[in-house]
Amino acid sequence: MYSLQLWIVVVILAWIYFLWSRRRFYLLMLRVKGHIGYPLVGFYLQYLRKKRNTDQRVRYYQKYGPTHLSWLGTVPVLLTCEPNVVQDILTSPHCLDKSHIACNALQLTAGPGIMALRGSHWVERRKQMNPSFRHNVLMSFLPLFNEETNNLISLLHTFVGQGEQKLLPEFINWSFTTALQSTMGSDVKENPDIKNGTLLNKFHYLLEDTSLSVIHPWRQNQIIATLLGIQQRRSKMLNYLNAFVLSIIEEKLKTQTNASQESFASRNTVINRVVELIKSGELSYADAMGECLLTIVAGFETSAVTVFTTLTLLALFPEHQEAAFEELKNVFPNGGDSEVSHDDIQKLVFLDRVMNESMRLLPPVPLLPRETSADLQLTNGVLIPKGVTVAIDILNVHRNKNFWGPEADTFNPDNFLPKNIRERHPYAFIPFNKGKRNCLGWKYAELSTKIALAKILSNFRVSTSFLYEDISFLDNIVMNLREKPLFEVHRR
Ligand code: HEM
Ligand SMILES: *[C@@H]1O[C@H](CO)[C@@H](O)[C@H](O)[C@H]1NC(C)=O
Ligand SMILES: *[C@@H]1O[C@H](CO)[C@@H](O)[C@H](O)[C@H]1NC(C)=O
Ligand SMILES: *[C@@H]1O[C@H](CO)[C@@H](O)[C@H](O)[C@H]1NC(C)=O
Ligand SMILES: *[C@@H]1O[C@H](CO)[C@@H](O)[C@H](O)[C@H]1NC(C)=O
Repeated sequence: MYSLQLWIVVVILAWIYFLWSRRRFYLLMLRVKGHIGYPLVGFYLQYLRKKRNTDQRVRYYQKYGPTHLSWLGTVPVLLTCEPNVVQDILTSPHCLDKSHIACNALQLTAGPGIMALRGSHWVERRKQMNPSFRHNVLMSFLPLFNEETNNLISLLHTFVGQGEQKLLPEFINWSFTTALQSTMGSDVKENPDIKNGTLLNKFHYLLEDTSLSVIHPWRQNQIIATLLGIQQRRSKMLNYLNAFVLSIIEEKLKTQTNASQESFASRNTVINRVVELIKSGELSYADAMGECLLTIVAGFETSAVTVFTTLTLLALFPEHQEAAFEELKNVFPNGGDSEVSHDDIQKLVFLDRVMNESMRLLPPVPLLPRETSADLQLTNGVLIPKGVTVAIDILNVHRNKNFWGPEADTFNPDNFLPKNIRERHPYAFIPFNKGKRNCLGWKYAELSTKIALAKILSNFRVSTSFLYEDISFLDNIVMNLREKPLFEVHRR
């Protein structure tokens, strides 16, 4: 009897604590319209029933307006697809951190890399890693980008005349080997675990675990995760990946190099940079390993998906594929085997518009969860209290009809003609995010994906029986189509 009363008291206290922990959000509810979910689970059950569909969000924009209160799984959020509000958020010094749920998931699954850091830790790490993303370093990767893309082209030749094929796994292989070498050094390629695909599998698991742990936050609870066997598998993967990275770090620490004789580029690749920072005592081993892992995670699937979605749209809109091919013929009169230089890329202005239009319609990172570290006053007068999760819905910012017109949902590279860009809100297009915490690999991604697309489109024409109307999204950190188009590859 006594213990029952105790339990009731505990439950009531837990409930009061829960309400108290969300008090800021309830205050915001007085000022912003939105969807009141169920206690504790919010939208979660509905969201599971709809199989992680994101269409629901579009309906709630119609019902509650472009900035409203909603839920991401079990987390209450302020959701927005309004460029003005996005600008307020991304230019504020009080909204630079990712949400707790996202940071925790990244730390648990991949360790303390820059993407997973908050506050002053993030500021410091960003300064430390910035040199790894400078122009000279990027230029030193050009031979690697060309070589790995040539391997991809050779492989695609074997697909010609084979009917419709899955291409996404091939693009993932391409971007993974590229990211691995640019991050960890080109020696890694000979590693047997890389050659037989073991390492890629582990990274796949890591990425999936990260995504699922954001979507189902209960996976972040140590007890639940252990009971379900998730924790054991997670630790196994992370131990394996850390051991892989550590062996390379230790190898580098052993070999004495004369830094003054090395070029700026070679000194500043991610692996050489973290080894330098370990030597000077500025980075722990754990931080260094996390940094390497998260750089690879940030870069490989996003780039592969960009190549994949751009080709999808070009297969669905053949007249634009032909226009892209005409431009390539002019820039590379000697055909598709030419080395692609940085200058060549600057000349591919139509391809640039195509890629931007593709990242507009199918943004590789569709949603950005941030969190306010102090009260944040929006220009529309609303005050967002400290500690509220703010979700920037990049996908729907990019399809906001007030900024992109009534045809916002169709593919039209003319959206990126200079005249149209000038007239548009600067925060209506944010595939790499903007401001202090934008994508560090932005230039890297643009260059490597353009080289891949340039070579693919010079050598092949792609077609598909997939229909544009059938595009449907599966909620995920990286853009994920529920049904993935297959391609037929034709030689040019
Ligand atoms: C098309 C490909 C890519 C897209 C669309 C993309 C997009 C993004 C976005 C939206 C963010 C911001 C996340 C946030 O603020 O919460 C981000 C962060 C980041 N990206 Fe990328 N990315 C791409 C490729 C890459 C590549 C290739 C690399 C590495 C070589 C990279 C490295 C990073 C890093 C390190 C961060 C964290 C920056 C920080 O927290 O300060 N990304 N990316
Ligand atoms: C890949 O190669 C490594 C090292 O030789 C081996 O330990 C591992 O079992 C192999 N994995 C697969 C899937 O073949
Ligand atoms: C990706 O590369 C690995 C290692 O080279 C290989 O084992 C695997 O079969 C490749 N996967 C695909 C889909 O080509
Ligand atoms: C490194 O190289 C520089 C210039 O080539 C030379 O002056 C210096 O003595 C070398 N340092 C060591 C430790 O070998
Ligand atoms: C494409 O987008 C990038 C920003 O992501 C921008 O720098 C570039 O100028 C854009 N190109 C065109 C043609 O709009």
